[in-house]
Amino acid sequence: MTDDVSRNERIKEASDYLRGTLAEGLREETTGAITEDDQQLVKFHGMYLQDDRDLRPERTRKKMEKAFAFMLRVRIPGGVVTTAQWLAIDAVARDYAGNTVRLTTRQTVQLHGIIKSNVKSTIRQIDAALLDSIAACGDVNRNVMCNANPEQSRAHATAYELARAISEHLMPRTPAYREIWLDGERIAGGEQEVEEPIYGKTYLPRKFKTVVAVPPSNDVDVFAHDLGFIAIHDDRGEVAGWNVTVGGGMGMTHGEPDTYPRTADVMGFCATADAVRVAEAVVTVQRDWGDRANRKHARLKYTIEDRGLDAFRAEVEKRAGVKLADARPFRFSSTGDRYGWSQGSDGRAHLTLFVQNGRLRDDAPARQLSALRAIAAMHDGGFRITPNQNLMVANVPTGKQAEIERIAREAQLLAPWSGLRRNAMACVALPTCGLALAESERYLPDLVTGLEEELAAHGLSADDIVIRMTGCPNGCARPYLAEVGLVGKAPGRYNLYLGAAYDGSRLSKLYAEDVGHEAIIAALDPVFAAYAADRQPGERFGDFCIRAGFVAATTNGADFHANVGAKRAA
Ligand code: HEM
Ligand code: SF4
Repeated sequence: MTDDVSRNERIKEASDYLRGTLAEGLREETTGAITEDDQQLVKFHGMYLQDDRDLRPERTRKKMEKAFAFMLRVRIPGGVVTTAQWLAIDAVARDYAGNTVRLTTRQTVQLHGIIKSNVKSTIRQIDAALLDSIAACGDVNRNVMCNANPEQSRAHATAYELARAISEHLMPRTPAYREIWLDGERIAGGEQEVEEPIYGKTYLPRKFKTVVAVPPSNDVDVFAHDLGFIAIHDDRGEVAGWNVTVGGGMGMTHGEPDTYPRTADVMGFCATADAVRVAEAVVTVQRDWGDRANRKHARLKYTIEDRGLDAFRAEVEKRAGVKLADARPFRFSSTGDRYGWSQGSDGRAHLTLFVQNGRLRDDAPARQLSALRAIAAMHDGGFRITPNQNLMVANVPTGKQAEIERIAREAQLLAPWSGLRRNAMACVALPTCGLALAESERYLPDLVTGLEEELAAHGLSADDIVIRMTGCPNGCARPYLAEVGLVGKAPGRYNLYLGAAYDGSRLSKLYAEDVGHEAIIAALDPVFAAYAADRQPGERFGDFCIRAGFVAATTNGADFHANVGAKRAA
């Protein structure tokens, strides 16, 4: 490799298909960490090495090593787990991960605080439940999301089938995961015998995220992801094929305007039979065209900005051997979940629970993990993790609805009345995320409480308004697509963004910079007041912020940083 590639590229190339020295590092008992190079590789196995940042000062004072532990992210296409799989996740959470489960914004679960000596046992237990963490992080296609859809059962089945097919097809082929974590035999002959037909030795330039959406719900936030498939229905309500979207992404860096969030473009339409081939072609074009020198410019969104959508489409069509048709009309209504009971078209009932910021605990009075175990004991219809960090109890027989609802209510798992809290999401941030500049999950509930008072004063308590917060600009909770977005800058300080579309189709715009708790509330109160007084019938908060001149509309990623701020919008 030449000099013009990033350090990560060298690590991948030298890793022998993601092995590195992970097996040896795991046996090294003098430290809870692994080497820096292995820290990059372990992401491809679904893990991050982290340390408890709350404990850092004390441990530094005592000259102790940081409190290292692993975060493990499970691969759960479409967020669908069987009841037995849920119980396996629950068991490892209790045994090794601090008795808590974190549902994520990309329909999977994260387990935090797993010390090095427990990682193999954890993976062995989830493997026994037919789950794994391969490619849950790293420069590969990550967990494939799928509309959680409780109502259109047939459309969900079709979309889920596609999500699974793409997930399987784009899985790394290296046996390193099995060898390292499950003591599988190294395949004789080594490197020559492993082939990554899709990825090659250096995998992708950067992470890659795929989703499948079924209008009218945009719960998966299709425009936030590298690759998306939007179901297009025919006259009989069957899926006629898919609009293909490319080039969405959230991450950016404060103070670096050539990094920006971007909403995906709709590239064309393909038949179901061609969808996996198209997905593979999008991945391989990005593999070959993506920037491997600068990781901050390596996502597909920049490749498309640099090369243009037409050139990208032409190359995808050539590689897939598929001519994409013109995109077909579709309409999204919202990005949120449908809480409470809903009846599928097959007559089965599903209960969407509210899990605040995806955090399930087992502390009194809301023993949530225990409650879900009780539900699992009386119900074998499985669970679905939603793209909004919530959990659906799926396929419930009529006779069991009342008891399941009673257990959920007692564990405080039913949705609250407040329209803001029902539509709130936060990333993990402190204390586990090494990149966090400010609190997120631990703070957003308090901010929402503060804002609820203002909203109540303006008669807006029940209005659905989407609010999302992250501890840094990487954007894990998709804050730039929230009607109210807050992005951490420093402890207790956030950038406030307004004006994103409720249906997930338009990014927000910076409204106030570097604001703390009181200033956020003070900045939003007059906007809420104006919304209550002047909105048009059915007008969403994000749209109103633009019409009323609080912020300018962002048309796409490249103008995200232009024309910012409260004054300039008018
Ligand atoms: C440059 C960009 C990014 C980096 C370096 C990054 C890194 C991380 C890290 C270190 C964590 C672990 C935090 C913890 O659990 O302690 C995390 C969590 C997560 N990230 Fe990212 N991330 C980036 C962007 C994104 C984006 C754009 C999305 C989604 C669109 C995303 C989705 C997630 C999800 C779902 C989690 C799990 C926790 C949650 O639900 O918030 N990440 N990310
Ligand atoms: S947005 Fe930043 S702080 Fe939050 S989890 Fe992602 S990387 Fe960590």
